Amino acid sequence: MENNLPVNIREYQELAKKALPKMHYDYINGGAEDEHTLRDNIAAYGRILLRPRVLVDVSNIDMSTNLLGYDMPSPIIVAPTGSHKLANPEGEVATARAAASCNTLMVLSFSASCKIEEVASSCNAIRFYQLYVFKNRDISATLVRRAESHGFKAIVLTVDTPMLGRREADIRNKMVAPANANLEGLMPIDDLDTADGSKLEKYARDTLDPSLSWKDVEWLKSITSLPILLKGIVTAEDARKAVEAGAAGIIVSNHGARQLDYAPATISALEEAVLRVCV
Ligand code: GLV
Repeated sequence: MENNLPVNIREYQELAKKALPKMHYDYINGGAEDEHTLRDNIAAYGRILLRPRVLVDVSNIDMSTNLLGYDMPSPIIVAPTGSHKLANPEGEVATARAAASCNTLMVLSFSASCKIEEVASSCNAIRFYQLYVFKNRDISATLVRRAESHGFKAIVLTVDTPMLGRREADIRNKMVAPANANLEGLMPIDDLDTADGSKLEKYARDTLDPSLSWKDVEWLKSITSLPILLKGIVTAEDARKAVEAGAAGIIVSNHGARQLDYAPATISALEEAVLRVCV
């Protein structure tokens, strides 16, 4: 058995494809539209080559860093992704324990399948909370307050999703949110009466606010004292605006290529969005 353990991400991906229902695998694995950006997110890393220097002592390698005041052994954190119970019955509680055991930080997704309170009481990992802005601001505000009162250390506002990307696999599969998704009672997913297409997309269309703008960053600042990170920035112009708006940080991301297809690969945008603005 030991010999069959996956040794890299691609092998985990193959196992997931075998283990998960097609609808759920496609949802996790897929990107928007032609999936050009999805492919480029991987290909772009292949275009960056390393320049090895030799005869340096590598017996002690220190990759430790500090994020918003939290020390971590390496610059790797758990990004917010939804519905972990699709892959594991314990859902985000298991993810939080894994993050804690690696001394790293987890960003809990708004679309988590475990409640904020459950994840908070499961272990003492450092946690940030990811937020969408809903048409009904009270819903978003309540989630922020719950995260704040349960020891979350920052709010990660997703700014690239005023509406959900067009994910063709989900449309084909008529993707529904899993029955155990913790949608915080926002809308019973079974009430969605789409006969075809992605029910998830319909849900997002009904709830997410497409008028999302810089004013909402101001609004978020007015309801929380937690640091705010803006996730989904890929240009220098927006990175500069984020700094001006008082964000504690930005997360350079194209949402796993699930939002705007033909946006740059995240790694290709890093230099523009960070180095030209912050250094
Ligand atoms: C949610 O953020 C998703 O990308 O499905």
